[in-house]
Amino acid sequence: MVFYFIGTGNSLYIAKQIEENPVSIPQVIHSENQEYSADSIGIVAPVYGHEVPSMVKEFLKNAVFHTDYFYMILTYGNRHGGAAELAKKLCDECGIAVHYINVIVMADNWLPSFDMNEQKKMEKHIEENMAAILADLGARRNRIAEVTEADRAAHRQFLDRMSRMPADAWQHLLQVTDACVGCGICEKVCPATSVRVTDGKAVHIPGNCQTCLACAHACPQKAIILTVPEVNPDARYRNEHISLQEIIKANCQK
Ligand SMILES: Cc1cc2nc3c(=O)[nH]c(=O)nc-3n(C[C@H](O)[C@H](O)[C@H](O)COP(=O)(O)O)c2cc1C
Repeated sequence: MVFYFIGTGNSLYIAKQIEENPVSIPQVIHSENQEYSADSIGIVAPVYGHEVPSMVKEFLKNAVFHTDYFYMILTYGNRHGGAAELAKKLCDECGIAVHYINVIVMADNWLPSFDMNEQKKMEKHIEENMAAILADLGARRNRIAEVTEADRAAHRQFLDRMSRMPADAWQHLLQVTDACVGCGICEKVCPATSVRVTDGKAVHIPGNCQTCLACAHACPQKAIILTVPEVNPDARYRNEHISLQEIIKANCQK
């Protein structure tokens, strides 16, 4: 049993290599029964600020997992900042006995720092790295990926920067421009009902936004932009192996 969370499909591409039909966290998080039993249980999710998205944290806190082998695979784009160690701490806090946590570098979909056209071209050795992870999982290896002092320092610096920003800053990261034609794709790819089409135009609703950027990346008009400067506002990203329909199926809350 593999659970996943996505904004742009990287984590689904990885999850599908482990199991044919992984389960989307946004589709089960509101289910009454949050008890899962399986021979092995895995979580595949992107790294946001060196940690897992808040919806994944909520899922781990509320669900009960009965398994002999629990693992997490975290996709990241540039600097994981000790994500494996932070995920281990989260599992400990949630009372989850975790056997394996690894990270895998993929295209970085963070628009303020990266040009998606460049990211699409970069060689990140995904297939080789994934083959090693699959071998580990096949052998039921016990391992938490190595974290260096430099990783920990990067995370401390990040937390320091965040502490000087308003607590809800990330909730106001997205805005809709006049280019919006009200097609509603943004609404369908949002895992958190944080975008709504009202009077023929998309509106971003702060509060529960996961900042997954699914709406911005999937908008055919590029009408959803960030409130902070983007490296290339013309470039958007979706994992080349994942269709828009798969993103909608994973995230749609309608
Ligand atoms: C809000 C946000 C924060 C991110 N933070 C990090 C980060 O701290 N380090 C990193 O290397 N990549 C970071 N990324 C990039 C993603 O982790 C990476 O592109 C991931 O593979 C996206 O997965 P998805 O396609 O399944 O959504 C961030 C992306 C977003 C949207």
